[in-house]
Amino acid sequence: MNQPTFFTTPIYYVNAKPHLGHAYTTIAADVAARFNRMCSSDTFFLTGTDEHGDKILEAAKKENITPKEYADKISGLFRNLWPELDISNNYFIRTTNADHIKVVKDLLQKIYDSGDIYFSEYEGIYCFGCERFYQERELVNGKCPDHGTEPEKIKEANYFFKMSKYQDWLIDHIKTHPDFIRPERYKNEILSFLKEPLEDLCISRPKSRLTWGITLPFDHDFVTYVWFDALTNYISALGYPDGELFKKFWPHTKHFVAKDIIKPHGIYWPIMLKAAGIDLYESLNVHGFWNVSGTKMSKSIGNVTDPVEVSGIYGVDPFRYFLMREMVFGLDANFTEDTIVQRINSDLANDLGNLFSRVLSMNFKYFRGNIPQPDERTEKEKALSLEKYADTAIKEYQKAMENTMFHRGLIAVWEFISIMNKYIDNNAPWTLAKESSQKKTLETVIYNLLEGLRVVSCLIYPVMPETSFRMQKLLGIEKERTEQNNDTENDFYTLNEVMPWHQLKKNKKLEKPPILFPRIDTDTIRTKEMKK
Ligand code: MSP
Repeated sequence: MNQPTFFTTPIYYVNAKPHLGHAYTTIAADVAARFNRMCSSDTFFLTGTDEHGDKILEAAKKENITPKEYADKISGLFRNLWPELDISNNYFIRTTNADHIKVVKDLLQKIYDSGDIYFSEYEGIYCFGCERFYQERELVNGKCPDHGTEPEKIKEANYFFKMSKYQDWLIDHIKTHPDFIRPERYKNEILSFLKEPLEDLCISRPKSRLTWGITLPFDHDFVTYVWFDALTNYISALGYPDGELFKKFWPHTKHFVAKDIIKPHGIYWPIMLKAAGIDLYESLNVHGFWNVSGTKMSKSIGNVTDPVEVSGIYGVDPFRYFLMREMVFGLDANFTEDTIVQRINSDLANDLGNLFSRVLSMNFKYFRGNIPQPDERTEKEKALSLEKYADTAIKEYQKAMENTMFHRGLIAVWEFISIMNKYIDNNAPWTLAKESSQKKTLETVIYNLLEGLRVVSCLIYPVMPETSFRMQKLLGIEKERTEQNNDTENDFYTLNEVMPWHQLKKNKKLEKPPILFPRIDTDTIRTKEMKK
């Protein structure tokens, strides 16, 4: 068993329902977690919801319900969405959980006792949308870069966290740990931000202004700043300080976030951990933003894309495949109906789907579904083996997946698929079938193709778990499924089990293949959309 690893997504605000962006991060982390399980490494995968602060209070007021009732409702939408998208999280955390609240208070007290939190009067410009103070130089034309609104000047006494004290230490840590923030561009963004003096962080809000939060343990007139509260979820979920999960999984942690929240994760969080004497996480994996039809998703434009709707139309696995294949992890990507249809039709229906049905149909036609067994003794048969191509694909796939380059991992698999498609054309089994002297060659060709499909079915598991299982079932090699607990899910082949070549056994009879991915007719989809 390799080193245990802990995967996390951001905990999402409960002020709006889940959209495409939330689905992407959670699917990306799920793919990484499933890949890690494939590497025989113990895995704990966490997601959840961030439920305190102004934003939630305001949203609840609009609906005339209490913030807790509101949080329950929206948190439920997130929690119920994840199984629908085949997310294999081991736990779902809510910041309104009593266990989490206790850990936040303990952490604050610990840092307060060590002298890194102080009380002071402060006058500054504050964006209520972001729930934070800004510095003049961060504004764009005097306005909040995120909300486009003018921040308000406010003067208040608050508690501050001495982040400035740790600035040089953090710069050094980032520089000496090349994978701490990745890809590179985001590491550089953080380092360039750290060239300016780091201001201390205001970690409280007076109750006169905000009550929906965790009361400071050392001053009951204040609640905790939401980011301090939220970031702590990553350790409270593991039962910090002495829970078994914490001991086992921390600090072997891979955080997944988008570029919008690298500052809290790349600056506040490591400093909070350092100040509390806790080891730092292993890596912060940052991806870009999804735009929809070329523009930022926004309620006012009306292009906020609902993952339930999209996966309902195209299927869960095709949706997951599209997201992982289309976005280069780290860069922005664009979502349009045409691009998803194109990807599904070309990569899934044509390349993989056709290959699968061609091979199984030929096996059915020439061998009545019985898996042929090649005789490996002749040089000719060795030359026909696809083993070396599978080896190359697995190596490239593994390297890419370990580095969160999911699109590249999929490209490696699809190159192998394309080699197999060409192999069929080059060896023309339909011609071999006409000559009885070529029987052995025909058996070898079909056997190699079936083996190739076996390899593909294993490699697509993290991205398309359901299709992987379906293909394996049709190849007669499905693993037993257990539904009770994600932790013990064992319906996949580990990377070590994918090779050697030559695993399919004789005496298995395969059925005629069904269609794996139906081609999508754009007109049908548009009609469906219009009917809504
Ligand atoms: N609650 C904080 C996170 C606290 S983590 C300790 C928060 N929540 S959020 O609901 O606003 O979620 C932000 C995250 O949602 C992004 O970092 C990203 O994971 C995901 N996305 C939101 N919009 C997105 C896109 N348009 N594209 C890709 N991902 C996006 O910030």
